[in-house]
Amino acid sequence: MCGIVGVVAQRNVTPILLEGLRRLEYRGYDSAGVAVLADDNHLQRVRAVGKVVELERTLEATPAVGCLGIAHTRWATHGKPAEHNAHPHVSDGLAIVHNGIIENHSPLRRKLTDLGYVFTSETDTEVVAHLMAWHYRQTPDLLTAFRNTLAELQGAYALAMVHEDEPQNLYCARMGSPLVIGEGSGESYIASDPLALLQVTDRFRYLDEGDHARLTVDGCTLWDRQHSPVERPVKRYQHAALSLDKGEYRHYMLKEIFEQPEAIGNTLSGILGDNHVLTAILGPDAESRLASVDNIHIVACGTSYHAGLVARYWIESQVGLPCQVEVASEYRYRTVAVPANTLLITLSQSGETADTLAALRFAKDQGYLATLAICNVAGSSLVREADWRLLTQAGPEIGVASTKAFTTQLVALLWLTSALLQVRGRAADQVAANVAALRQLPALIDQVLALEPAIAALAERFANKHHALFLGRGPHYPIAMEGALKLKEISYIHAEAYAAGELKHGPLALVDENMPVVSVAPSDSLLEKLKSNLEEVRARGGQLITFACETVEQPGADGDTIRLPQVDDIISPILYTIPLQLLSYHVALVKGTDVDKPRNLAKSVTVE
Ligand code: G6P
Repeated sequence: MCGIVGVVAQRNVTPILLEGLRRLEYRGYDSAGVAVLADDNHLQRVRAVGKVVELERTLEATPAVGCLGIAHTRWATHGKPAEHNAHPHVSDGLAIVHNGIIENHSPLRRKLTDLGYVFTSETDTEVVAHLMAWHYRQTPDLLTAFRNTLAELQGAYALAMVHEDEPQNLYCARMGSPLVIGEGSGESYIASDPLALLQVTDRFRYLDEGDHARLTVDGCTLWDRQHSPVERPVKRYQHAALSLDKGEYRHYMLKEIFEQPEAIGNTLSGILGDNHVLTAILGPDAESRLASVDNIHIVACGTSYHAGLVARYWIESQVGLPCQVEVASEYRYRTVAVPANTLLITLSQSGETADTLAALRFAKDQGYLATLAICNVAGSSLVREADWRLLTQAGPEIGVASTKAFTTQLVALLWLTSALLQVRGRAADQVAANVAALRQLPALIDQVLALEPAIAALAERFANKHHALFLGRGPHYPIAMEGALKLKEISYIHAEAYAAGELKHGPLALVDENMPVVSVAPSDSLLEKLKSNLEEVRARGGQLITFACETVEQPGADGDTIRLPQVDDIISPILYTIPLQLLSYHVALVKGTDVDKPRNLAKSVTVE
């Protein structure tokens, strides 16, 4: 999704801007652009459709050199991907980049058109550029004009602006979309994601809603939404451990799949005791408040939603608490019945997903006992706004298709299940068993990763396929859903997941020799039921691909079964995720798609 980078320095900023944009590429975008103030104080704007490399080529032909600049990667919302719609947008000596959506752009466009402004794009952002220019005409003080502009905007934005009249200053503001200020020595930066700036700094100030700022080479001045000066603390970026390079791997996704043992190990470190879980991680009053939780609501999007669905099985079966799981885009717009003593959990890799964040904000007025964010990004909006936070330590996840963020979320949710048991003083044996099972996970995942060559061979079967079914039962049903999501995201094969017992209520009609049916068949209490379902598929000529426990007798057709180690049932959904990730990855290779940046998708969906 859209990305912003801005720099004010005493050297040419274009290389820093371009490197920042390259680091944001993983988020998904369709065009890119920069605006740089030249030494003679005139703005040079260069934009290109396609990847950042296209922008670089255009810049070779039309260089933009200067000490102040802003840059943007655009993911089209208003207006198709085209150079004239790419940011920055300009008006009367100023340039603006914007993430988010200006909801009242239509009336503003009409007003500005009546005032004589001519629009060259279909974007909501150009409205902001002209509005800013108009306010600056009324009030020739750039900060006041900037504030007057912000006061007219409805919707979500992270904005950055430069003006030919103030070649030392970079202005920015945040409302509903993430923005950070980076501190350098003798230079200052902004970005929509700290990752964009890690090549120049690891020190960041995170803006609050309504904050706006003016940056110079000496630092920044910040104001809150009431225009009062504020300080936001400088924080060191915490994701140094797992590197941003692809290393020996062909794709980030593959690297991230293989990082899972380490990511899970990092997530577990500091939250497990010898045979119990450390609840103090949630804060001093966590024990007593967790003990009074009677209900749980989990809200999330995409892959994170699937993690919530698995947790429901764990929480209801082990703790006996009712647990409801919902996608954030639905939850935020409905009337929610919240029983007394309900804990709201939001799950998110990025902590910036617009619907999940809006759901958390909506939940604040719904009478929840407390809100908990389980998230992979320490400084994210979700983490800052929830009452409690539990950080997964997956490290930066670059591939759009989420992998290690998902399995570390599951680990955090199993920790939470154990914590809920423990604070109730119940089932110490179960807690100890969960802790032991969690500790075994990194080594078990290493064993499953070793199956990659066999899974790669199976992937060839999908070369000419257009559809696939994924089946699972119990907590492995959401794992089947996650497997189907991975396959469709990166290979563009239409994939659907079914609870295996539902097969005969419709999807069986689709089964023939052209329909691969992937099933997750661990050795659990539902195995015999699942085997019957697979027989139904086999009888109709369906192509069975089965991931089964090594102790299980032939659950699928000959040669189509991949064997996984036998493990404690509770961690089985985590383990069975791994081969499905590898399968999707290798099918995408067979199909020749852009694995890390699948078409039309964004890593972090910061607009509704
Ligand atoms: C996008 C990503 C998915 C992700 C979802 C939720 O759709 O492409 O991989 O699962 O957003 O993101 P979050 O950061 O909230 O987990």
